[in-house]
Amino acid sequence: MTPSSRTGHATAHANIALAKYWGKADIELNMPAVPSLSLTLDALRTETKVCFTGSLASDEVSLDDQPISGRPKQRIIELLDRVRAEARIQSHARVQSRNNFPTAAGLASSASGFAALASAARVAAGLPHDPAKASSMARRSSASAARSLFGGFAVLPLNEESAQPLIAPPSFRPALIVAVTASGPKAIGSTEAMEHTRKTSPYYQAWLDSSPGLYQAMIDAVEGGALEVLGPLVEQSCLMMHASMLAAAPAVAYWRPASVSAMQTVRNLRSEGIPAFFTMDAGPHVKVLTSEDHVPVVEAALNRTDGVSRLITCRAGPDASVEVE
Ligand code: PMV
Repeated sequence: MTPSSRTGHATAHANIALAKYWGKADIELNMPAVPSLSLTLDALRTETKVCFTGSLASDEVSLDDQPISGRPKQRIIELLDRVRAEARIQSHARVQSRNNFPTAAGLASSASGFAALASAARVAAGLPHDPAKASSMARRSSASAARSLFGGFAVLPLNEESAQPLIAPPSFRPALIVAVTASGPKAIGSTEAMEHTRKTSPYYQAWLDSSPGLYQAMIDAVEGGALEVLGPLVEQSCLMMHASMLAAAPAVAYWRPASVSAMQTVRNLRSEGIPAFFTMDAGPHVKVLTSEDHVPVVEAALNRTDGVSRLITCRAGPDASVEVE
């Protein structure tokens, strides 16, 4: 089979960082300034098809059947260029991608999107499927995407090119409930917001100094299967990350009134003895980590929270998968 006749199909799932990545050590190579740890989610999925063909004059990219252009398309072309360079091919690609959730609203669409794209494009170009190489390639486009190659828990250690799985005890299978609090695309993209935080926030150095210790403590908690240990660390990582951006000049503020209400709901649940812990990313939604047994009570409380419009209840998702046709 010649590379030009192959179509690569890949499915990757979004992940939510428990130990957050915020800030770049090297902007050109897109290397994070802090290590991160995440949970891949079964309910948030991107499916991507890539075919390199001599019949195209330029790369064609669609998302949910709509052609995309501008900077989002440029980021995809940059990944395709890296695949072409490695595979020593010149042809352009047709890329068709589909999310089963809203794009660019802080639901980690860039993570599942670039993980699926890197996986599909590599095999479409005739390169062997190699999760570590696909992870490294996805990281160049979106560092959180490196973690979406792997199911369950994954880590992206400091100074590493690719993410790797983190093995938890089989009995440790927390749920994560996404409380959707607003619609529409996010106000400011994560790369721009991170650079602004790095340049202007007096709290950025404190964030860099504290993150590795939190990350290591979270690895121990996941390996020990201890949700009560992990949960408070997850909240601290999230709040430290947001504190660093709130202290930027001007502030980067992703929170909405409903985000604050949902965080308070989680604290109230905890005061009743329910293990529930929140995290937030570069968007207004609140993600709540809890144990399987407590999913119904946490869902009920979030559904009663002002401004929460929808819940997406997730369990640990699988590795990214790839097929060639
Ligand atoms: O990978 P990016 O550039 O989309 O940045 C992700 C940043 C956070 O979602 C806020 C944290 C993380 O580790 O996923």
